[in-house]
Amino acid sequence: MNVDALKREAAAAALELVEPGMRLGLGTGSTAAHFVDLLGQKVRAGFDVVGIPTSEATHVQAEKAGIRLTTLDETPELDLTVDGADELDSRLRLIKGGGAALLREKIVANASTRMVVIADAAKKVDVLGAFPLPIEVVPFGLESTRRCIVKAMIAAGCDGAVTLRLKDGHALVTDGGHFILDAALGRIPDPEALALGLSAIPGVVEHGLFLGLASDAFLAGPSGIERISR
Ligand code: A5P
Repeated sequence: MNVDALKREAAAAALELVEPGMRLGLGTGSTAAHFVDLLGQKVRAGFDVVGIPTSEATHVQAEKAGIRLTTLDETPELDLTVDGADELDSRLRLIKGGGAALLREKIVANASTRMVVIADAAKKVDVLGAFPLPIEVVPFGLESTRRCIVKAMIAAGCDGAVTLRLKDGHALVTDGGHFILDAALGRIPDPEALALGLSAIPGVVEHGLFLGLASDAFLAGPSGIERISR
């Protein structure tokens, strides 16, 4: 089975958690797109839910799929968010932001009673960090903020290049109007320490370490779905 088919299987497993009337956070990325697609099929068959997209891209997809949408201002508390991840460990600590949507993803996950991760099984790692950690920063003072990030990384026992994410030769601009710095760390021995250090830097808007947010993960592999819960 190819990776895309595995992603769809993980999405289908999470869809079974959805109950009529739920307020749902809708993730971003190729795996979350399968979930939105499958949810759209259910909605068109008469199932009523309300969704809050975590990016402009998901907003467009969900609207086309016929899913009723709201905002966190109208609906500040959600029942369930279903989202992908770039990496996760057995304690359901995640790296997210490969699709540059980490800020809205974290706000939406934090507003939800449950966050469920859907992914192909290859996303599970023993130690986080092989996937470069996305860090969303304010454009003002970029180089100064980058240096503070390097110091915070060293203080948390990790090291690596921190580079500005580009798109079409220019700095990628997030849905919130910020830039993304990607930290190629290889290993993050103490994600909690790094998260604390990064959150203390004024120019850092948010980082892609999602700690204590996910309650379950559905990981699709060649031999079926593995469910991790905490
Ligand atoms: C978006 O910013 C990310 O957090 C995505 O959730 C993550 O990159 C997973 O994307 P895929 O499902 O496409 O691998």
